[in-house]
Amino acid sequence: MNIQAKKKVFSGVQPTGSLHLGNYIGALSVWVKEQDNFDGIYCVVDLHALTIPEAIEPKVFHEKNWETVAMYLACGIDPNKSTIFIQSQVREHTELAWILTCMTPMGWLERMTQFKSKSGKQETVGTGLFTYPVLQAADILLYDTEVVPVGEDQKQHIEITRDIAQRFNQMFGEVFVLPEAMIPKAGARIMGLDDPESKMSKSSAVKNAKHAIGVVDEPKKIIKAIKAAKTDSASEVSFEGEMSPGVKNLLTIHHVMTGWDEAQQRAHFEGKGYGFFKSEIADAVVERLSPIREEYTRLLDDRAHLQAIARMGAEKAGAQAEAKVKAVKDALKINF
Ligand code: TRP
Repeated sequence: MNIQAKKKVFSGVQPTGSLHLGNYIGALSVWVKEQDNFDGIYCVVDLHALTIPEAIEPKVFHEKNWETVAMYLACGIDPNKSTIFIQSQVREHTELAWILTCMTPMGWLERMTQFKSKSGKQETVGTGLFTYPVLQAADILLYDTEVVPVGEDQKQHIEITRDIAQRFNQMFGEVFVLPEAMIPKAGARIMGLDDPESKMSKSSAVKNAKHAIGVVDEPKKIIKAIKAAKTDSASEVSFEGEMSPGVKNLLTIHHVMTGWDEAQQRAHFEGKGYGFFKSEIADAVVERLSPIREEYTRLLDDRAHLQAIARMGAEKAGAQAEAKVKAVKDALKINF
């Protein structure tokens, strides 16, 4: 494939908490798998994390950013093929976000389900949590992004990005490319182990150690969490009829970790007890995640390397971002 044919891709993860299996399956593993087909920019979105300021302890937060860079690399993103940087290193993100905020009807933001669910849990809600999708739109639109590989929960944010871009283009001329979401079919939604009716989430993981599987968790912890996972009251695994959400979720995780299809899973697990079932799932997860954990641990000790990667990424992204903001300002005639 030649350079021109590569899709322009942008995605990001907040440097809050550690990445869990849901993040890995929904996002990072896809970025890595498609690395040769993508002209990818992968950002650590620290400015988005500020939308819940109560959760920010500056020193810890600072470290989380480097941990996330290390995680990107450990998961297999190659800085020679893709661009990695920290959002606040490229100031155009905030600059474009303001301009787009002015172009975004409040009603659009009021419809965002993530705002509704996140704001419901806060005592006081910062304005940034409300305008969060506009900053995300700026991230994406700065780089003429065509494809945004994300988990299913981000679909609405990509749709509003398209709407914002379209509105700007109609009002002031064709400046922005309309992006599309790319959502993996299998495992787009990994559910909580303790509560398979709701999505695996970083915030629930903080409250309950057995909610999620962290990408860099020790094998012992992974095994414990899977052993404790909620299934149902049956005594053996059955593929007949409606499967309980807990069993279904474990099979999804197993599928993504091993690539086994349903027929293979059925041949292996049908009629087996949950003890065997869970230990097989845990083995598959540990086997897949161990090399990532080892590389992550090694990288965390090499801060200079992480800084060099992020600086290189920020320079590359910054040049593109600067050109795009110039085009926006030219269109608005705020080019003084
Ligand atoms: N909102 C995304 C999430 O919570 C993170 C994000 C911010 C993002 N900017 C982005 C994802 C741009 C894709 C593209 O997961």
